[in-house]
Amino acid sequence: MDFLGHLRGLWVVVLLLPFSCVPSEGQPPPPRKSIVPFPPGKPTLANLKGICDNVSKRPRYDLNSLPSPGFSYLRRYATAVNSIEASYQDCCKPCGTEDKSATLKCASDAWLNHLSTYCESESMVMTMPYHCCENYDMYRCFETAAPNPSYQHPPPQN
Ligand SMILES: *[C@@H]1O[C@H](CO)[C@@H](O)[C@H](O)[C@H]1NC(C)=O
Repeated sequence: MDFLGHLRGLWVVVLLLPFSCVPSEGQPPPPRKSIVPFPPGKPTLANLKGICDNVSKRPRYDLNSLPSPGFSYLRRYATAVNSIEASYQDCCKPCGTEDKSATLKCASDAWLNHLSTYCESESMVMTMPYHCCENYDMYRCFETAAPNPSYQHPPPQN
């Protein structure tokens, strides 16, 4: 292994260490993926009901209560998720007529815009940006990476 390889390996260990040690009391921390599920699934006609049904029940994240320091990526996840959920809340507001296509357009725009902003924030930091931000098909990458594309609530455990 070359020097850079070692360095990278060490970095991974440093990043994973806080999650691998069990605190002296209580439950071990949840696995990384469940702290802030990211990215949210791309809005489609198929998941629109899932998006809107439980929009007020899905978690919003208190940026100050996320593990720190060294986990600023989580804060950027949380910022994006909070913004997207806030927009969904507006998009899903019942407005008399059931206009699915308007709701979908609203939710899709929110998803695209906030993920784009997220990638801008990723590009400001020195660490490796989230892989989809560097993908030539960024939105398709986000769509594929979503851990809970159907917006099932509570999210499926695995
Ligand atoms: C919404 O939440 C309720 C319970 O909180 C659950 O039974 C229902 O399946 C959820 N809907 C979706 C689309 O996940």
